[in-house]
Amino acid sequence: MSRVALVTGGTRGIGAAISIALGAAGYRVAANFAGNEERARSFGEETGIPVFKWDVSSYQACAEGVARIEAELGPVEVLVNNAGITRDAMFHKMTPDQWNEVIATNLTGLFNTTHNVWAGMRDRNFGRIINISSINGQKGQMGQVNYSAAKAGDLGFTKALAQEGAAKNITVNAICPGYIATEMVKAIPETVLKERIIPQIPVGRLGEPEEIARCVVFLASDDAGFITGSTMTANGGQHFV
Ligand code: CAA
Repeated sequence: MSRVALVTGGTRGIGAAISIALGAAGYRVAANFAGNEERARSFGEETGIPVFKWDVSSYQACAEGVARIEAELGPVEVLVNNAGITRDAMFHKMTPDQWNEVIATNLTGLFNTTHNVWAGMRDRNFGRIINISSINGQKGQMGQVNYSAAKAGDLGFTKALAQEGAAKNITVNAICPGYIATEMVKAIPETVLKERIIPQIPVGRLGEPEEIARCVVFLASDDAGFITGSTMTANGGQHFV
């Protein structure tokens, strides 16, 4: 029987590409989403991938969401923590709400979702956790003190949890995408994107969501069993670590 993969934020952007790629690779995929019902419904209709609505910033909602998926599809063996938001502002203009919302979704969301699949993975002696961090968690980004802090936190989470999971055959890895052609990046002011960001990318273009999805499929596979606690960087040469 094929493995069940849960992709948070899995109906749009990079997450949608990940859901589709894992489905094509033979996983039974559950795609979580938080807000956009219409887009989630059309994603589900177009792909046949079941969609599940909850907000990853709520521990209780994650517990209930994972329980629903496990009842309908079976135990979650692959978790892709992809859900993420931006609330960009220069630090002197950043509000406490902009800080708290980003930390709650992009960092605490990893705890909330992972904690609810962890005991099952330990019991079954197998698991794959893949956290979608960001280039901006590695290098920092002006206008994104909140986002950079959360995404850097995701890397610490990955490295610490990898050590705990290793003896139970659970790998925990992170991927740091660079600037990928999604709605999130297209929301950046056009002059900033064209004049400031794209010139910093040596390959001269934004990445495609599918280029990140292929990294996920590899890290989820049995072939990647010796890779844990690592950070896979896919950013067109914009930043080397
Ligand atoms: N790189 C380089 N310079 C940047 C920059 C960036 N990413 N963002 C802003 N700047 C520069 C602007 O060009 C501007 O410079 P000048 O004064 O010389 O023209 C200066 O910083 C101030 O910017 P704004 O005039 O736009 O100031 P603002 O207060 O109106 O807006 C902002 C600030 C909200 C941060 C806005 O500039 C913005 O959205 N910038 C993009 C920030 C960014 O890179 N976000 C990444 C989103 S994608 C993502 O997060 C996915 C991922 O993981 C990579």
